[in-house]
Amino acid sequence: MNNIAAIVLAAGRGTRMKSDIPKVLHNIFGKPMVSYVLESLKAAGITHVITVAGYGSGALSKAIDTKIVIQKKLLGSGDAVASAKKLLGGHRGQIIVTCGDMPLMSARTIKKLILKQRSSGASLTLATATVKDPAEYGRIVRNASGAVSKIVESADIKDAADEINEVNTGTYCFRAKDLFEALKRVKPNPRTGEYLLTDTVEILDKAGKKIKSVEVEDPLEMTGINSRRDLAEATLILKDKAINEAMLSGVTVEDPLTTTIYPDARIGRDTVIHPNTFIGPRVEIGRDCHIGPFARLTSSVKVGSNVIIGNFVELVRTTIGDDCRVKHHTYLGDAVLGRKVNIGAGTITANYDGKNKNKTIIRENAFIGVGSVLIAPLVIGKNATVGAGCVVLKRHNVPEGETVVGVPAKILERRLGKVRRGSDEKRSVDIQR
Ligand code: UD1
Ligand code: CA
Repeated sequence: MNNIAAIVLAAGRGTRMKSDIPKVLHNIFGKPMVSYVLESLKAAGITHVITVAGYGSGALSKAIDTKIVIQKKLLGSGDAVASAKKLLGGHRGQIIVTCGDMPLMSARTIKKLILKQRSSGASLTLATATVKDPAEYGRIVRNASGAVSKIVESADIKDAADEINEVNTGTYCFRAKDLFEALKRVKPNPRTGEYLLTDTVEILDKAGKKIKSVEVEDPLEMTGINSRRDLAEATLILKDKAINEAMLSGVTVEDPLTTTIYPDARIGRDTVIHPNTFIGPRVEIGRDCHIGPFARLTSSVKVGSNVIIGNFVELVRTTIGDDCRVKHHTYLGDAVLGRKVNIGAGTITANYDGKNKNKTIIRENAFIGVGSVLIAPLVIGKNATVGAGCVVLKRHNVPEGETVVGVPAKILERRLGKVRRGSDEKRSVDIQR
């Protein structure tokens, strides 16, 4: 969106995390929590973003690609916003302020804030939430006509404000000029000595400026991360959402409690996910599959349609064609399987030689016997058979239609009824699918 900048507050150390890593760099599903906030801003159309860093600013600037300003002393959220001013280059429009430790804040709420701010011509629009337990959140105080007049921090509550269960989510849309003028007038909080951003609300109200509010789309959005417990809760919320979305799109998840589906995984219709299954980042699964129980699909695994991935199967960076069977106790890493491949129980690809990760290509309709070790790089040809218990050495590619047996695996010469040493001429491994 044009003429809208954002300031992401992320200078706090997060003492309760008991960590040497800055709080906002703790991961949720393999990504730092602050990157969820940045994604929401981006999805709301905001590209001009400044992150306020403090503790661990070096690590933070490596992890994210926004402009960064360093708040030298942690003098409060108001001081943090003021410190971003110089990087805004006299920005005249609206400014979204939000917190790097609130990874669930949605793009929809941010858009709603901007729309309300624009349509009402307010100086400030706040995102608020009505909650059962206002806990440590700042309370929204309204005047007799129902307009927001100030925010009282929970530790500063002395009076009836305690009855209030509408709280400040920590995400705001300010008119830039009014924000910085109000910040100049914020006095240190008598209790903590900090300059609180929330004090700008009363200052703007007293100056006769218009203050509006919108409710967050979902109260869970304001889940702030202060402890490892909160981190686990936010992870659970995102996990739940991903599982719900999968179910809504036609996937059966037998046991949501023991299943993990990453938010960026894609699963086709009528696929069944059995209990205790882990579907990791960017995994794609087709239609009519059975996955699990106890299967682990990580890092960019792609599975076709009508595939069975059974129990205790681990797949890493592997592509599986339609109609394959990988039913028991198997590890496939850096493998590419064509259609209708059957992988016997206990098959292992030895994809790592101590230096490199190598590919195993198993072509259409190949049959891999139980307990085989396939040492990559390796190609198993179309319609080929690997006998039970084989160790197929690297580059000893099995030609189309042939059968290999033994340790190390050799081609079974059916016509002559004897075993010939396998195709050990160093074929270059064909890594096309
Ligand atoms: C803040 C709000 C509170 C709101 C809550 C929602 C204030 C004063 N209060 O409380 O009304 O209900 O968020 O989660 O803002 N920060 C800095 N530099 C500082 C101090 C803080 O960058 O010097 C950052 C923190 O990293 C955090 C944000 O500002 O991202 C809010 O500060 P925090 O101390 O967490 O305030 P809360 O007590 O959570
Ligand atoms: Ca907080």
